[in-house]
Amino acid sequence: MYMGMVERRNALGEDEYRGKLLAGLTGRVIELGAGPGNNFPFYPPTVEHVLAVEPESLLRTECAKNAAQAPVEVTVVDGVAGRLPADEGSVDAAVASLVLCSVPDQNRALAELRRVLREGGELRFYEHVIAHHPLAAMLQRFADATFWPRVAGGCHMGRDTRAALQRAGFSLEWCERFTFTPGPPVPPIPHILGAARP
Ligand SMILES: C[S@@+](CC[C@H](N)C(=O)[O-])C[C@H]1O[C@@H](n2cnc3c(N)ncnc32)[C@H](O)[C@@H]1O
Repeated sequence: MYMGMVERRNALGEDEYRGKLLAGLTGRVIELGAGPGNNFPFYPPTVEHVLAVEPESLLRTECAKNAAQAPVEVTVVDGVAGRLPADEGSVDAAVASLVLCSVPDQNRALAELRRVLREGGELRFYEHVIAHHPLAAMLQRFADATFWPRVAGGCHMGRDTRAALQRAGFSLEWCERFTFTPGPPVPPIPHILGAARP
């Protein structure tokens, strides 16, 4: 997401979701698809280190600039969800924020997140998901099968990420579902925010 859009979304309340996403985290954290580092200002001081993984080179450059201003130590690295640049059991927490919509293989990404989390670690997630309303879900799936991923960097609107988390063996500690409206021309979009353990 570009900076103007980020500011607009924060003004509409996304900053509160990001704060809640990261509240209480401690120790070593891996953030998947960190983008320009939109979450960095919200990391609590109890976090020792964030390994920010970002595959897209322009975003990675922006991410590195924002890492230098972050309230916690952040290292920015190249990498993809299907093969995370971290050892097994090496992190206390993982963060996936508006990224599981875009990874090519969600099951593979979730398996990788499980691999790098230590026993008892947690995954925090903030993702937009498929609608409950059948007509809205059908429109999302139609968009996913046609133009949307091509114009939106591989994003899919109709993914059931809550179900994917459970299928991947995560147990949900908490999971809030709400509608976020980024503003015209984007319609209200269902999101989930929560924590899960492997
Ligand atoms: C909508 S942006 C979200 C950025 C940031 N996480 C946030 O919360 O604002 C989606 C991000 O996912 C990244 N991404 C896309 N495919 C990926 C993959 N296969 N592995 C890791 N990151 C990926 C993109 O490069 C981009 O930074």
